[in-house]
Amino acid sequence: MFNAGVVRGYAMLMALLVGCGAAFGQTNRPPDPQHVAEGKKLYEKHCIGCHQKDGVGEKDLPVGIRHPKFVPAMPLNDTSHAWHHSDVELRKTILKGLPDPWPMPGFENVITPQQAVLLVAYIKSLWSRETLACQGRRHIACMTRK
Ligand code: HEC
Repeated sequence: MFNAGVVRGYAMLMALLVGCGAAFGQTNRPPDPQHVAEGKKLYEKHCIGCHQKDGVGEKDLPVGIRHPKFVPAMPLNDTSHAWHHSDVELRKTILKGLPDPWPMPGFENVITPQQAVLLVAYIKSLWSRETLACQGRRHIACMTRK
């Protein structure tokens, strides 16, 4: 027989562990360094070809040379607007892709939802602390502050 106190203690410990884990995968929270390291490997495998090293983004091609439907893969560091999106929204973009005319492919058949969490952690590691604090819904307040 389990002692009720032990069971309650265990339940509290689990709640605490789950709570801490969740805090890492959240908007405005710094990413877990372990997730960043694993996300970087996934990024280098699946994303670097378009979004480039360190998420600096793809250069636009001169009009006349580029295909009329060419859209450069935007930077994912904090020079563009990836940080306007919450962690949940970023994961959704990665898994589902973006609709025409933005040729961002969906990766739901290539990576798992947990791997999308790791990729978001890596993307967030490219942002300054200030940007991180302004991530998601807060970006509007941050942009109008100055
Ligand atoms: C075939 C090229 C290509 C590949 C590969 C690719 N992307 Fe993209 N991605 C794009 C384009 C193009 C856009 C949209 C650009 C625009 O809207 O101006 C985009 C947009 C995004 C956005 C939205 C950013 C925002 O500010 O709204 C995220 C996040 C993103 N990509 C993450 C990833 C990740 C993570 C991977 C790897 C798993 C990846 N992409 C692989 C081309 C690519």
